[in-house]
Amino acid sequence: MNFHVLTLFPELINTVMNTSITGRALEKGVIGLECVDIRDYSHSKTRRVDDYPYGGGAGMVMQAQPVVEACNDLKKRVGNAPVIYLTPQGRVFDQKMARRLAQYDDLIFLCGHYEGIDERALELVVDEQISIGDYVLTGGELPAAIVMDCISRLVPGVLGNDTSADEESFHDGLLEYPQYTRPEEFMGLRVPDVLLSGHHGNVDKWRRQKSIERTLYVRPDLLENAVLNEKDREYLKEIGG
Ligand code: ADE
Repeated sequence: MNFHVLTLFPELINTVMNTSITGRALEKGVIGLECVDIRDYSHSKTRRVDDYPYGGGAGMVMQAQPVVEACNDLKKRVGNAPVIYLTPQGRVFDQKMARRLAQYDDLIFLCGHYEGIDERALELVVDEQISIGDYVLTGGELPAAIVMDCISRLVPGVLGNDTSADEESFHDGLLEYPQYTRPEEFMGLRVPDVLLSGHHGNVDKWRRQKSIERTLYVRPDLLENAVLNEKDREYLKEIGG
């Protein structure tokens, strides 16, 4: 997987992505990252890329020309990768979208700043618009980093253990069960006995039930699309779902 990011703040993307697990994956070459500074495509002497909005209103708007030229230049090299614009106006990102996007060899992310990007640039170059949630950030860089982080952990070789990507939250559409590590007792709180029993069947059952409980209490909306078997449904009924 190769990520290409069109941005006014390459250092922000590089700092986040070069840290921790994604940083190691970049070092190993399992994923690739290239940032294109949109300012390099400004035609003005002062490298300006924004201007006042037509019709008035607060803030500045990123001009179409540097965005379109930066993107077209990148597409000449990368080929037919989808161009994804990060915006609160997009479809809300979820694990299913991450799995779909992880199938591509290359992805192009377009990050806006200020009050957004001239709509004509979006019409000309953008294939898909993604929001990371119903709140407004100062720019698309952190959302792009979040989407890339999520996709990266689905790329084979990024996580040490090949099964862990699948086992975690949202497996079967449920929230993850609680995890414990040593010591067995901390500040009077004990690790549940079943996890110390060595009985794998009981451990699996306990974890599944905890996942169902958590999902019911915290995110009941997820149960609608969760993959539940007969036993899961019985348990859900038992706890009032
Ligand atoms: N840019 C600003 N806020 C955003 C959000 N919530 N999602 C994606 N891009 C954004």
